[in-house]
Amino acid sequence: MEIITLRNPARIVFGPKSFNLFIDDCAVAGLKRILIVTIPELLPLLESRLEPPGSAGLTIRFDSSIRQEPSYDDVYRILDEADSFGAEGIVGIGGGSVLDTAKIVAALLGGTQKIHEVVGNNLIHQRSCYLACLPTTSGTGSEVSPNSILIDPVDSGKKGIISPQLVPDYACIDPELTVGVPPAVTASTGMDALTHCIEAYTNRFAHPVTDIHALEGCRLIAGSLKRAVERGGDIEARTHMALGSLYGGMCLGPVNTAAVHALAYPLGSVYRIPHGLSNTIMLPHVMRYNLPGSLKKYEQIALAMGAEKRSDPAETALEGIKIIEQLIRDCNLPVHLSEYGIREQEIDSLVEEALKIQRLLKNNPREITAGAAREIYLGAL
Ligand SMILES: [Fe+2]
Repeated sequence: MEIITLRNPARIVFGPKSFNLFIDDCAVAGLKRILIVTIPELLPLLESRLEPPGSAGLTIRFDSSIRQEPSYDDVYRILDEADSFGAEGIVGIGGGSVLDTAKIVAALLGGTQKIHEVVGNNLIHQRSCYLACLPTTSGTGSEVSPNSILIDPVDSGKKGIISPQLVPDYACIDPELTVGVPPAVTASTGMDALTHCIEAYTNRFAHPVTDIHALEGCRLIAGSLKRAVERGGDIEARTHMALGSLYGGMCLGPVNTAAVHALAYPLGSVYRIPHGLSNTIMLPHVMRYNLPGSLKKYEQIALAMGAEKRSDPAETALEGIKIIEQLIRDCNLPVHLSEYGIREQEIDSLVEEALKIQRLLKNNPREITAGAAREIYLGAL
């Protein structure tokens, strides 16, 4: 068996109403000044739940400027704010964009490194600032992962920063924080989480330690996503989604994603298709291409998602893809690239961009050549 290293937050707190414990952890960490990166919609809730400020000896500042996938400029702006505020801790409370921003701000605060110097693997020297992440969507798993994805203004490309320094000290996953998420966002972020689990389980570097999380994540998400979309207040469905998302996130560090994410990235950077939606469109098509590369694993995924076992593993595995396609339709998610105005003549440039993301393509269970990528995009058109 191959060696695997897991780097999870020192403390992971999971469960409904666990949000109430988070401020205690800040106090235990001895913090006096924290900057909370969040979204405007959450400000009233946070201000009421964290009042009176100072009750735990804390001074809190909020930044709610992150409205979409973060750029280098966003990070530098919040770094300046954190520096002038004298923040001892950075807390991200929001979706993946907010958490990714909080993570990189915490890692660079007080240091001399610039963003372009840390893009890639293991390039952040150290993090001296406390970092906590509280997801409000069940999707990215960023609260436990070593990844932060930023948009580089030079080429508009999505750049991945992967470092153990980006794993938070504390992750608090309270499913009740996801109750107010609109159906469309619940659906797209949930599909992102499902994609993490599928790409981890079928990964060339898959490992029994992550397999158990990935497969259970597939079962939980496939069984609860539709319910969470249709009935946002269903705490059981929200809890299953949060758990599935956490499990997917726990796979991101050790094995990471593969061709679905690699082919989806240019759709985000060039056409601004949100991350969960671009993954949703590409997922069934990449799975069909990948089937011969990892048939047994795709069969197991299908069974975990509720497919009936057939005598031919390929038939069972195909049933799994059909379950996902039905889930996408049930959740009113997009199925074609053409819905975003993408035309056949633009596919060559998408292929060119996707092939640059070898850090993920190398994980795919079947080699992705330029020809294969082109066929997959054409199938999704
Ligand atoms: Fe993702």
